[in-house]
Amino acid sequence: MPPAIVILTGAGISKESGIDTFRDKDGLWTKVDLEEVATLDAWHRDKKKVLDFYNETRKQFRAAHVEPNAAHRALAHLEQQYLGEVTIVTQNIDTLHEAAGSRHVLHMHGRDGEVRCMNCDKVDESDIDLTPQSVCPHCGSVGELRPNIVWFGEMPQHMDEIHAALERCGLFLSIGTSGEVYPAAGFVLHVRRRAARARTVELNLEATGNQPLFHEHIYGPATEVVPRYVERVLAGRWQY
Ligand code: APR
Repeated sequence: MPPAIVILTGAGISKESGIDTFRDKDGLWTKVDLEEVATLDAWHRDKKKVLDFYNETRKQFRAAHVEPNAAHRALAHLEQQYLGEVTIVTQNIDTLHEAAGSRHVLHMHGRDGEVRCMNCDKVDESDIDLTPQSVCPHCGSVGELRPNIVWFGEMPQHMDEIHAALERCGLFLSIGTSGEVYPAAGFVLHVRRRAARARTVELNLEATGNQPLFHEHIYGPATEVVPRYVERVLAGRWQY
C-alpha cells in the first residue's frame, strides 16, 4: 500500500475561485476586525453584529456562485486515482473540495451552510439568516444558534482524527496557507516529530514563515502548481 497522504489546505487554494484570503493585502481581515466578529467574546458582546457579518458573508458567497478550480479538482483526482489513503484537512469553510469530488475532507474550522446550537450543540445544515431571536429546533433555546464556524480561541473540530492521520502519513502537503494560525500551522512539526520518515511539501503562492520546516517548496498559483504536483505523485516521482 502506498504511503498515506495528508493535505492541509487554506484560503489560498480557493483564491482563484474568487474567494478572498484573510491575510493577503486585500484579505478579509484587512477589511473587518476579526476581534469584532470571529471570537467568542465578540459573540457574547454583540450577537447581532456577529450574526449579521456571517449572514452577509454567506449571501455574498452564494451570489458569487463560486466553483472549484483546477487545484480542488486535482486533489479530488488524486483521491480517486491514488492507491493509498488521501485525507484533506481544510481550514476553509467553503465546500469547494467536496464540490470538486473529494470525499475524505475534514473541516477543522467548521463549514459554511451549517448552524450549531450553543445550548445543545446540535448541528444542522441551514442557509437561514440567524438573529439573536432564532430558536433552536432541537432544544427550543432562543438566541443560541450560531454559524458552525470555529472562532479564534475555540478548539478546532476533528482534531483526534487529524492527529491520527498525521501520525500515519508518509507525505504531508500544505497548500495555500500562511501557516500563521495554530494548531494547523503546527501540523508540519507534528509530522516531522511523529512520522519522521514522512516527506513534507509546501505548495503556496509564496514562501511562508513555516518554509524552513518543509523538505520541499513549490511556489506559484495553486491552479498551476497543484495539478502538476499531483501528476508527480501519481507517477510515483514524489520521494525526491
Ligand atoms: N495559490 C496559492 N496560494 C495562494 C494563492 C494562490 N492563488 N493566493 C494566495 N495564496 C496564499 C498566500 O500567499 C497565503 O500564504 O494563501 C495563503 C493565505 O493565507 P491566509 O490568508 O492567512 O489564510 P489561511 O492560511 O487559510 O488562514 C488560516 O486563519 O483567519 C483564520 O480561520 C481562518 O482558516 C483561516 C485561518
